[in-house]
Parts: sequence; structure tokens; C-alpha cells
Amino acid sequence: MEDPNLTTGPGSDVDSTRDSSTAQVRQPVDERLQKLLDKALYGGGHPSAQKIRNFLNGTWLGEPLHVVLKDVPVGAWTVAMVFDALDLVFNRPEFARACETSIGIGLVGAAGAAVTGLTDWSDVDPPARHVGLIHGLLNLSGAALFATSLFLRKKKSRATGRIAGALGYVVMSYASHLGGKLVYEHRVGVDRTDGQVFPEQFAAVLPETSLIDGKLTRVTYQGTPILLVRRGDRLFAMAETCSHFSGPLSEGKLEGDTVVCPYHFSRFALEDGRVLDGPAVHPQPCLEVRTRNGQIEVRHAPAPS
Ligand code: FES
Repeated sequence: MEDPNLTTGPGSDVDSTRDSSTAQVRQPVDERLQKLLDKALYGGGHPSAQKIRNFLNGTWLGEPLHVVLKDVPVGAWTVAMVFDALDLVFNRPEFARACETSIGIGLVGAAGAAVTGLTDWSDVDPPARHVGLIHGLLNLSGAALFATSLFLRKKKSRATGRIAGALGYVVMSYASHLGGKLVYEHRVGVDRTDGQVFPEQFAAVLPETSLIDGKLTRVTYQGTPILLVRRGDRLFAMAETCSHFSGPLSEGKLEGDTVVCPYHFSRFALEDGRVLDGPAVHPQPCLEVRTRNGQIEVRHAPAPS
């Protein structure tokens, strides 16, 4: 889904004070590609497009599906390299067959990893967006080299096929290194609410009269932002920073008993923080909330047993 707020959000590389035509000209290639991809994935707003995106993001899994699928090509192509080496040393047809089968399995896994990776990348902000693009292009190149390798092996050009496979493995390894950078350095796919400190005992955070019905309200507890919502006689409290990319949920939209993030439109249930629509995959931590002596008090909700 195209996000109009991205140009003014954190990490934005477009100066919003300039006229839109200038900004358009100066948009980096990765940003233009991302917008095109986002439009294609959103499917013109068709309701099933969001469901497909949720599936590909891994909203149902509680972690990015890409992280699971990417292990298939990495593992299969590593095994292929081992069988290739064994074939080279012992010249046995079963090693050659095992190598080809492993390359084939890796190619199937790579297709799944590519589709899920592209879906995740369509909602990644700079500077990770640029790294993600290089990561994806290298992975595509690695897969193309392995496909060439398999083709050459089938055509009995085993020596050339070996070179293509070895090159593919080198390219894939560097792409994996960039994948690690995306997670450990840029925290893509990591729960952004992790490590936030919420009160263990009930603590007052706002006078009861200050919370307006139906208004997303941000309060803080020892520097940690908390989202408060009143819906009639019900009160809700959850982490205010979005688990996806730290979007400020208090600046999002209240839709029934759900809140929609202003950055990439993930939707969370107010009641238990579960993700109803991605790209977020991690639920929002929820807090217990009550009123005492005219104050709204919150505390960390114990994890369900
Ligand atoms: S920051 Fe991306 S959906 Fe909230």
C-alpha cells in the first residue's frame, strides 16, 4: 500500500518542502521501484490483495515468512556444493545426481524466498531499502547462476556447470551477508517494541478526564510511549510504537476496535494487540488499564499462560 506519510517520516530522503515534480525527479531508483512494487502488490485495493500480502509477510506466522523460506536455497545449495565436491573427487554418478537435485530444490525455495522478500521490501524505509535492493538483486543473480549451472549439467557440460554453480554460491553468500545486515544492523523484521519498559505495578499515566472518547492518545511512562484509547466505557492501552518500523500509533487511525499505523498501515486489535493486517508480524504489547482516584493507571499485562 502506498504510504503518503513516508515522505515525512523518519529516514525519509525526499524534502517535502520542494514541489512534487522536483521531488519526483530526485527520487532514488530504489524508491521508485518500491512504489511500483507496492502498487502492484496492493492489487488496486482489491480486498484479497491484503490477505495475500498478510500471508506473504508472515502475519499469520508471527515472524517474517521470508526468514523461514530463505533457509531452503541456502541449505540446498550448500548441500549441492558438498555433493559437487564429492563428485569431483570420486566421479560417481549418484553424487552428480544428488548435486543436481539439491540445486533444483534450492531453485524452488529461492522462488518462495524471492516473492516473500519482495513483499517485505515494499514496506522497508531508507537506509535499509537500498541495502535490501542490493540483497535482492544479488540473490536473483545467484539463482540465475544456479539455474544456468543446472542447465549446463543436464547438457553434459559439467565442468562449466560447476563454475556457474560455484559463482552462484559466492554471490548467494554475499547476499546472505547483506540479509544479516538488514536484520542485525537495520532491524528489519525485528520487533521494534522489544525491550520497552512498562510498569510492573499499576502506575498513573493520565487524569481520567483528559482521555477523550475515540481519540488515540499518547502518554509516556519513564520515557516509554503508551497508547491509550477510550471506546465508550472501555479503556485500552498498548505500546505506542509500531512493532514493524516504530510508527507512532497515536498518529494513526482508529477503526472500530482496531488501530491502523500511519506508516505502512498495519492494523492491530486494541483488545490484545494481535496483528490483523501486515506488514507487521509481531503483535503490539498490551497493558492492563484501570481508573483509580480520577487517574488512568496501566501495568504490563502478564503473558497469557
Ligand atoms: S511502522 Fe510499518 S506498519 Fe507501522
